[in-house]
Amino acid sequence: MIGKLVGGLVAIYILLNAARNQYLNEIAVIYREDARLGQLGLTNKPMVEINGKRVHGRFLHITDLHPDPYYVVGSSPSEQCHSGSKSDEVKAGKYGDAILGCDSPMLLMNKTIEWISDNLADKIDFIVWTGDNIRHDNDQFKISNLVLDEEEDEQVEVEDNNSNYFASFGEYQIKKNFETQGGVPNNKVGYMESLRRDLYAKVKGKKKSGAHLERYSIAHVGSSIVPTFNPGFRIWEYNISDVSKFNQPFSWDSFFMKIDHLIENLEVDDDFEISKKKKKHKKKKPDKTFPPQFPKHNKLGPAYTPQFLSPEKYVQYYLDLESVNKGDKHFEYEIEYKSNEDPFYLPDLTVSLWLQLARNLGKPTKSKFKDDKELKKLESIWKYFLKFSFVSSDYENKNYG
Ligand SMILES: *[C@@H]1O[C@H](CO)[C@@H](O)[C@H](O)[C@H]1NC(C)=O
Ligand SMILES: *[C@@H]1O[C@H](CO)[C@@H](O)[C@H](O)[C@H]1NC(C)=O
Ligand SMILES: *[C@@H]1O[C@H](CO)[C@@H](O)[C@H](O)[C@H]1NC(C)=O
Repeated sequence: MIGKLVGGLVAIYILLNAARNQYLNEIAVIYREDARLGQLGLTNKPMVEINGKRVHGRFLHITDLHPDPYYVVGSSPSEQCHSGSKSDEVKAGKYGDAILGCDSPMLLMNKTIEWISDNLADKIDFIVWTGDNIRHDNDQFKISNLVLDEEEDEQVEVEDNNSNYFASFGEYQIKKNFETQGGVPNNKVGYMESLRRDLYAKVKGKKKSGAHLERYSIAHVGSSIVPTFNPGFRIWEYNISDVSKFNQPFSWDSFFMKIDHLIENLEVDDDFEISKKKKKHKKKKPDKTFPPQFPKHNKLGPAYTPQFLSPEKYVQYYLDLESVNKGDKHFEYEIEYKSNEDPFYLPDLTVSLWLQLARNLGKPTKSKFKDDKELKKLESIWKYFLKFSFVSSDYENKNYG
């Protein structure tokens, strides 16, 4: 969790880094017709060129590859796709299979990276790569190959000359005692229904949560490459209108020092809890909320009001594994949906609009509808929301609960 949170923060700093050499520099706004952008569902908006480096206003978020070098095509998913009898009805597919619980074949990872490189690399500013780049170890298969020390699990940065930045933060750490996760997802429809009732239907209004609903923040659960459902990733588009005005110097060292400091303080807080039980009389607990609390008189940031860096839109891509395995489709990531079009029609991605969507998703669970048409429309949006939650794998109709 911390790994992913830090990953998100890093994304923002990477962007600022991309724009840091502003003063005394050459700035140009470039508009170039690119038919491929339209095919990819991306907005054909002007780029800003700073000292020859182009800022597109887009980044890729990719996560949880979980490649498994021991994956065997045709083996049994009940044996983690490592082995298995020929008599098994279900056999591990060439590119992996949605929902069956195995990790990614190396081929899926390779072809995914190749597709991104061929189709997206020159259209984005950077990649946010939030880790989980090693396999699960559900059957503790060939454990000795898996022992990584902590060093290896730290961030990797690659910089190329087109200002594409890559950051990987491994959350999934393998140490002496192996953790296992992954596997066949169960009861996820039930879980989504409970969110609908308990979270979406109960979103507070402006009176309780501020004019821009700034007492809320949004966490996005992105689709993984490992085919828990179908493989998928997202391209985010963000506002670069004022990128040329940004001119703070930037240092990775000081960035990581600040993050380390904040995380250390978190741990100090745990110790504090323990010592509190021993001693009854304690000073008022210092506020160590992470990230630190929002200063009262600051202006709201890009998550809440449209401005430089505000997220404007995303395009969700997915791989239709079943068709690709059968040979009915080429290995090609397709647009699953766009945030600004059917069925969600979000004009931008500020928090208050997300919460409006959440309310609409939850509304049928708590309100009586006089207008049958409205109810039908909201139920249809919920159906799409479920379908996309499971990356168009049809999980919601397959009786997994
Ligand atoms: C994946 O790519 C790596 C690096 O290019 C290569 O060594 C490996 O053979 C590839 N594996 C598959 C299954 O494509
Ligand atoms: C990037 O640019 C530098 C300086 O112009 C050059 O030496 C280097 O080879 C380039 N790297 C790549 C990967 O193109
Ligand atoms: C982008 O930010 C600028 C201010 O920097 C604002 O005027 C503009 O409306 C924003 N664009 C969008 C599409 O929200």
